[in-house]
Amino acid sequence: MRRKLAAGNWKMNGLGADLAELERLATAPAPSQTDRLVCPPATLLSRATLVAGDIAIGGQDCHAAKSGAHTGDISAEMLTDCGASAVILGHSERRETHGETDATVAAKVAAAWKESLLAVICIGENLAQRDAGTTLDLIGAQLAGSIPDGATGATTVIAYEPVWAIGTGRVPTLDQIAEAHDFIRTTLTSRFADEGHAFRLLYGGSVKPENAADIFSVANVDGALVGGASLKADDFQAIIDALDAA
Ligand code: PGA
Repeated sequence: MRRKLAAGNWKMNGLGADLAELERLATAPAPSQTDRLVCPPATLLSRATLVAGDIAIGGQDCHAAKSGAHTGDISAEMLTDCGASAVILGHSERRETHGETDATVAAKVAAAWKESLLAVICIGENLAQRDAGTTLDLIGAQLAGSIPDGATGATTVIAYEPVWAIGTGRVPTLDQIAEAHDFIRTTLTSRFADEGHAFRLLYGGSVKPENAADIFSVANVDGALVGGASLKADDFQAIIDALDAA
């Protein structure tokens, strides 16, 4: 039985005062079947752990190297040192604007595992790939290239995020989500045998309180990676509640 996971990605949003939102979430009763994760910007990680209570705190990226001459980058060990227990890797915004390839992502995942960080690996097609009918080929290639050997459900979460649904208010149909998640599950079980059933699969892209219950009714959707709607405690709490009730 997989526990559910509601993960919030604050992206490049949030100042110290915004930790009040996290504090409000942390004081709500803990859901029974759902783990909660909030990934604030790196500048807030240490302070976030002070108010997060039972909510896990994660980074939004890490470098593949342990340390060294990498100006502006952050290592997995630094995230752990701040009190983080997870890290988002291969988000489409980093694949697009920082040129991250599947191989880059896989190296970062291996670095994260070494520091006992849960790796939340993001995959998903852009609109041209969706329109060309190559979505499953693309996400198959991303799964093959971004997940190192030895992955388990305890160390790794997969987030399916169609690029065209991120921050746009446009959401795939439930059939499209089901097709992608079924494909991801089948791909994981063919590579990792029974362990493939242990990975949690998150949907991401314009998840809101209004559409959350429908999305969580889809088979093989074990939770969500939420951007914009994770910035306000009331919205994220409504999504957490919908997930826990699903
Ligand atoms: P969104 O972002 O919820 O604002 O669409 C999701 C994500 O990029 O993880």
